[in-house]
Amino acid sequence: MYTGLINKYREYLPVTDKTPVITLNEGNTPLIKADNLAKKIGFEGEIYLKFEGLNPTGSFKDRGMTMAVSKAKEEGAEAIICASTGNTSASAAAYGAKGGLKTFVLIPDGYIALGKLSQAMMYGAEIIAIQGNFDVALELVCEIAEKYPVELVNSLNPYRIEGQKTAAFEICEALERAPDYHFIPIGNAGNITAYWKGYKEYGGQEGKRAGRQASEKILLPKMMGFEAEGAAAIVKGERILYPETFATAIRIGNPASWKQAEAARDESSGMINFVTDEEIASAYKMLASAEGILAEPASAASVAGLIKVKNQVKPGSKIVCTLTGNGLKDPDNAIKYANADVKKTSADIDEILRAMAI
Ligand code: F0G
Repeated sequence: MYTGLINKYREYLPVTDKTPVITLNEGNTPLIKADNLAKKIGFEGEIYLKFEGLNPTGSFKDRGMTMAVSKAKEEGAEAIICASTGNTSASAAAYGAKGGLKTFVLIPDGYIALGKLSQAMMYGAEIIAIQGNFDVALELVCEIAEKYPVELVNSLNPYRIEGQKTAAFEICEALERAPDYHFIPIGNAGNITAYWKGYKEYGGQEGKRAGRQASEKILLPKMMGFEAEGAAAIVKGERILYPETFATAIRIGNPASWKQAEAARDESSGMINFVTDEEIASAYKMLASAEGILAEPASAASVAGLIKVKNQVKPGSKIVCTLTGNGLKDPDNAIKYANADVKKTSADIDEILRAMAI
């Protein structure tokens, strides 16, 4: 029986028999082959989508949160805190509830998707909406966590990265090798950092576990990270004071793991680039209509990135795109971008048939 990623990958994580495991059975998400998408964008190779929206609170944050909250609990914390564009707050609130910890979340007022806010409310977090963006909120929670007995559970907390690296293990197990390229959205840059750590570790000790000879190193993927154009601090090489994008999850102008993201890019001979809101919206719609996968807008930045640079990808390659969050979290954008015509009729069959135009 699958009981969450700490139990599955315990030998690769900083836990002991004494660590209380706070889990909602996160991880073990599907890697979905996307042949319709490949055909549609004219890519000759294999595309796989790691759909992290199927985690318990609907995003990849649960992988890091099971670790961060279990360790906070082990260390005797009674409260946790985070800044968030929405998903981290939903995840912290859920694991906080499961672990019996008080959870404080700071969010940019008016800039988080409705589903994420309703999650944090239902899980019982203390929600503080500030007049300021994510970057400002992160600075504030760091200061609070330093002075008061509340544990920081943003990705500056190293246990978050440890938990999130397990997504790379799962991909290597599913493909029985690492992909050639890994496409991923970048916001605060924790996830690209975590995947790269995971791939490197899989090539070492995990590789041995899979029965490989120690000398038989697996090839590592090129890490391909994508920021939103209006929030592309790493690409532009400077902090963006007022980041803007409709993909609010990655509306971040001063990524905390900036240096680590650049290291992942350089060590893997990958790239960090940006995609426009139009490119994100187009990929968002294409994923839903061609693949039957509703991911949230920020998640579609990985696929938008692939579409943008596909001519720089070797034909015949195996590609993984991470879809970081579930599209159900953001019904406002789904309804706006689907722009669908809902026909209203009476309950009369003839009228319905006329509406069906058959
Ligand atoms: N995709 C989604 C859906 C996210 O929620 C985030 C980050 C990212 C991508 C970017 O990941 O920060 O590791 O580079 N969301 C954070 C939050 C900031 O508060 O939920 P990253």
